[in-house]
Amino acid sequence: MARCFVTRKLPGNGLARLAAEHEVDVWEGELPPPHEELLSRTRYAEGLLCLLTDRVDAKLLDECPSLRAISNLAVGTDNIDLDDAARLEIPVGNTPGVLTETTADLAFALMLACSRRLVEAADAVRAGEWRTWEPGGWLGYDVHGATLGIVGAGKIGAAVARRAEGFGMEVLLNGRRPGDGRVPLERLLAESDFVSLHAPLTAETRHLIGEEELQAMKPTATLINTGRGELVDPAALRRALEEGSIAAAGLDVTEPEPLPGDDPLLGAPNLTVLPHIGSATHAAREAMVDIAVDNLLAGLAGEPMPHPVGAA
Ligand code: DGY
Repeated sequence: MARCFVTRKLPGNGLARLAAEHEVDVWEGELPPPHEELLSRTRYAEGLLCLLTDRVDAKLLDECPSLRAISNLAVGTDNIDLDDAARLEIPVGNTPGVLTETTADLAFALMLACSRRLVEAADAVRAGEWRTWEPGGWLGYDVHGATLGIVGAGKIGAAVARRAEGFGMEVLLNGRRPGDGRVPLERLLAESDFVSLHAPLTAETRHLIGEEELQAMKPTATLINTGRGELVDPAALRRALEEGSIAAAGLDVTEPEPLPGDDPLLGAPNLTVLPHIGSATHAAREAMVDIAVDNLLAGLAGEPMPHPVGAA
């Protein structure tokens, strides 16, 4: 029986399978454990089931010598120092696949919400501002038939592309791997009516979309980000929206997260921000917990994780 630290209460019954085999310590707070608490609760643990809000850095890994397996409840693992985990031969797992379609749904929902001004229009009704049917009121942009640029042609990017087919959109892909679709980023930005970001966050993709890239987009274009907030330079995005160099932006992820209510970005026009809910359906989250538990059980048993990440 191994000691495991689970950094948040999780939906579904997946944790019961972990508790049936191991001693499980669950952080009961609604907010993530502060870093010191994460460190002290993980110090004697052999298994760690953590979230994208937990920074598992080299210092933490060095100070937790008993750790034998790390399972991240996310497909992204930019919160974990993977090189250091590999150096210490600690396997790391993630939860791919089960959130692909769910996140693609949300990317599409944001695209529709921004282009048809759904949030603004619904707010206006509640504010008693629906006076009449206005021929020139609430005009937005068509999604059907538009050109969609997908940056990062992994599983989620491909799922967004499938949805786009149903809307009769032309899809331009900019992926990293051969065969992903190789429209250069400059051309994708210049020709797309919607640009949707699905690249993983790495040192190379940090602020992939900055001043220059936003200027390269059409003034009628919408930027959608359901990947990681740091893919976009927030100051440049704010300027682009204020100056009208793009028409709108829909973000499910921001830099920082959570985005404070008084963050200057929120003052920008035509901006819809969601609180990182891309995978937030009952089914997807419960499936993610199941996979995260499977990964941890395998890692603790010294077996290959079903969904390993990195080189360990
Ligand atoms: C992930 O899995 O990386 C998402 O951002 C949260 O589901």
